[in-house]
Amino acid sequence: MEALDRLDRIKDRFEEEIKKCGDLSRLDGVRTAYLGRKGELTMILRSLSALPDGQKVEVAKQANLLKREFTARIEETRAGLEETEAATKKDKTDVTLPGIRPRAGTVHPITGTISRINEIFISLGFSIAEGPEIETEFYNFGALNIPLEHPSRDAFDTFYIKGEYLLRSHTSNVQVHVMERQKPPVQVIMPGRVYRPDAVDASHSFMFHQVEGLMVDKGVSFSDLKGVLSIFCRSMFGNDIKMRLRPHFFPFTEPSAEVDISCIICEGKGCRVCSGNGWLEILGAGLVNPKVFEAVGYDPSEYSGYAFGMGVERIAMLLYGVEDIRLFFENDIRFLRQLS
Ligand code: DAH
Repeated sequence: MEALDRLDRIKDRFEEEIKKCGDLSRLDGVRTAYLGRKGELTMILRSLSALPDGQKVEVAKQANLLKREFTARIEETRAGLEETEAATKKDKTDVTLPGIRPRAGTVHPITGTISRINEIFISLGFSIAEGPEIETEFYNFGALNIPLEHPSRDAFDTFYIKGEYLLRSHTSNVQVHVMERQKPPVQVIMPGRVYRPDAVDASHSFMFHQVEGLMVDKGVSFSDLKGVLSIFCRSMFGNDIKMRLRPHFFPFTEPSAEVDISCIICEGKGCRVCSGNGWLEILGAGLVNPKVFEAVGYDPSEYSGYAFGMGVERIAMLLYGVEDIRLFFENDIRFLRQLS
């Protein structure tokens, strides 16, 4: 039957075309072509009355079935296309937008300052040593020739734990451990935490960091000390920095000095940071007292040496222009990020 054959062909073509529909407007085109007012199937349905009586019923039945089938196929395809279209819209990435910077961690400014100090001394042939923070009186005081009546031994100036234990008040204790362990030559720096029961304010903390230095060999002199320290100061603060040594007293060194650098803020003219005198004290130093050598079993007639100790927070405050030491320990990420 001719009309039924035509329906079969329409069906095949419709199937082919709908499979190729990749977007909604093309689907609309297919719908119009078959089911629209002048669509192929619509036309057949409209011209049913022109068919011979024997065919009318069968063709009408098939054509209506096909109409229902086409409508269902179109709706099903539309739903699928709408879904993919919505998904691509959502996933659309605008590659021209500024990226989201991943947040990388950084080293703490105090750790960073210690690393810089370490690197300078490593380049001068020093190695790094560490020692205990919980210490005995012997290592923190006795072996370093700090007498019983010295104020730093007072309970108000040191954290005592049980019995003879205390929290070290400086990193000089590591000098004693290193010399006990090894014979000269010794050339070490010793970074670490130290503790003092100071009331916390803008320039004091009950815990801070020091880097200690020690060099022992035959014939080490004060000029070696001065040379190493001046290289350190220039590497740390810039080539134009000036350094001066002021006579001072430390029990574990003789002679001893405090070491100043020209103020890095006002370059020596005098400002608030240097209290108007143009100099900033950054470390203590001297030639190792023979009594310290005796305490560790070194022969003071054979060896000489120098030692020095510096406060890391003080140096970091100068380098970064930080006016309050507490900022280093509050772990406020807004502060830490500014210094990284
Ligand atoms: N231990 C001293 C302090 O905590 C710093 C110091 C001064 C260390 C002179 C030294 C030195 O090795 O020679 O204040």
